[in-house]
Amino acid sequence: MRKKIIAGNWKMNVLPSETATLVKEVAEATKACGNVEVVCCVPAIDVAAAIEAAKGTQVGIGAENAHWEAKGAFTGEISCPMLVDAGVKYVIIGHSERRQYFGETDETVNKRARAVIAAGMTAIVCVGETLEEREAGKLVEVIERQMNVGLKGVTAADCDKLVIAYEPVWAIGTGKTATPDQAQEVHALIRATLAKLVGAETADKVRIQYGGSMKPGNAAELLAKPDIDGGLIGGAALKAGDFAGIVAAGN
Ligand code: PGA
Repeated sequence: MRKKIIAGNWKMNVLPSETATLVKEVAEATKACGNVEVVCCVPAIDVAAAIEAAKGTQVGIGAENAHWEAKGAFTGEISCPMLVDAGVKYVIIGHSERRQYFGETDETVNKRARAVIAAGMTAIVCVGETLEEREAGKLVEVIERQMNVGLKGVTAADCDKLVIAYEPVWAIGTGKTATPDQAQEVHALIRATLAKLVGAETADKVRIQYGGSMKPGNAAELLAKPDIDGGLIGGAALKAGDFAGIVAAGN
């Protein structure tokens, strides 16, 4: 049995001064959801406040990106040792917004993911097709490429530090959700692709989250699918009540 994991992706939406309140609200609202791993991935500048507010609660704190080098002349970047030192346990890697707006490639996703895992944190590696790619019949090709290149060199032993998020780009922040069947189809493809990389037994243990306009009203039917093991939540993660509703659906 894979433990469900619901992670908020706050993106660039919460001020440092607002962080403790939201983390505490999430902790309070999700208290009764013992069977679900609850995570808030926050902007780097919110990390310290989030870690402090999450102390003694069931909420784990994640970051939204990390550089692959441990230190050096990389102005503006945040390293894995810095995140570990601050108490971060999860890092989102290769979100489609990073790919679309900041030149992230499958190769840089690979470097970042491996660095996060090597540092002992859990990498939440995002994959997903654009609407154009889906309509052009390239869904399988795109997902396989993102998986094969993005996870190159990731071993079976690394996989307890790996979560994959399937986020169809056309569903992110658009209010359009993949249907449970559409999502399940791609989740099964992701698991099968992973099985070729690390073996079926290991692939069977890796959690695959769905992301893209997940909310309390549609979470239960998505999370009921056999290969959907959680959610990566954008908009609905900014209100503790909505976020907790999704966590409850996974419980
Ligand atoms: P959304 O974002 O829930 O607002 O669609 C999901 C994500 O980008 O992780």
